[in-house]
Amino acid sequence: MADLSLADPLWKKSTSTVGLVVTTDGSLVNVMAAEWTYFVAKDPIMVAVVLHESNWTTARIAGLSEFSVTLCSEAQAGVADFCGSFSGADVRKTSSEDLSLRDPVVISTPWVADGVMALECTIERRVGLPHYTMVIGRAEHVHGVRESAPPLVKHDAMYSLGDAISRRQVTVGAAQLDHGLRVCAVCDPHASREAPYEVALLGDRGEVVAKQSILPDEYGDLDCFLPVPPVGPGPVRRVAVSRAGYDTGFATLPSG
Ligand SMILES: Cc1cc2nc3c(=O)[nH]c(=O)nc-3n(C[C@H](O)[C@H](O)[C@H](O)COP(=O)(O)O)c2cc1C
Repeated sequence: MADLSLADPLWKKSTSTVGLVVTTDGSLVNVMAAEWTYFVAKDPIMVAVVLHESNWTTARIAGLSEFSVTLCSEAQAGVADFCGSFSGADVRKTSSEDLSLRDPVVISTPWVADGVMALECTIERRVGLPHYTMVIGRAEHVHGVRESAPPLVKHDAMYSLGDAISRRQVTVGAAQLDHGLRVCAVCDPHASREAPYEVALLGDRGEVVAKQSILPDEYGDLDCFLPVPPVGPGPVRRVAVSRAGYDTGFATLPSG
């Protein structure tokens, strides 16, 4: 298998949703696709769109104080492809009958319907990047329903979201503190909240130095402090954490 190079189109290996960014100069509304659309703050909600210098949207948004962005549903794969394949400088994209624009509530820019959600944003900040501008918008209003449509997923090609991953193994980490060990672990979120984690401290030869059953926290995770037995066959080298129905996870402690 050949090694990746920084000259490869690495971004095609990343996975994202797709945004439909709408701008208006008061008379002409334009929509472009932006897979580089991310939430970047929660309180207040802020969303960033990253726009290449060659896009008409990039030139237009430089003189604007607002935009709207719709996170596409899987039903919008065609619209996303279309709005990302042609420039508003050449074709009036809003003429497509597959694109449904709605009136805004707070700002003056319409938003594209039928997505997972649509955000009316005022522009908070612009960050210059090589050949790109990141435009950060503050969400002023959201359109959507709680039981939202499945998202469109971009991973080079476009996909529907797959099944949630069910994990078969506990994943564990531990830290040596002054008088004991802090042990943290996660397991499949579907595991029963009543099922305890079984924590075993292992010595040099893999022998069990101490063990304890501990109930998960409110998130279903393990986060505990275990005093290390003052006398015993030797130092604790590894921590094993198991849970009924899942493979045991291990953490190694630094020696010395
Ligand atoms: C699915 C998809 C996602 C895209 N994501 C981005 C993006 O995040 N940033 C960007 O600058 N261009 C992106 N593009 C390319 C622009 O959408 C494209 O250049 C578009 O024609 C710009 O339209 P405009 O000239 O009307 O602004 C994407 C294209 C597609 C098809």
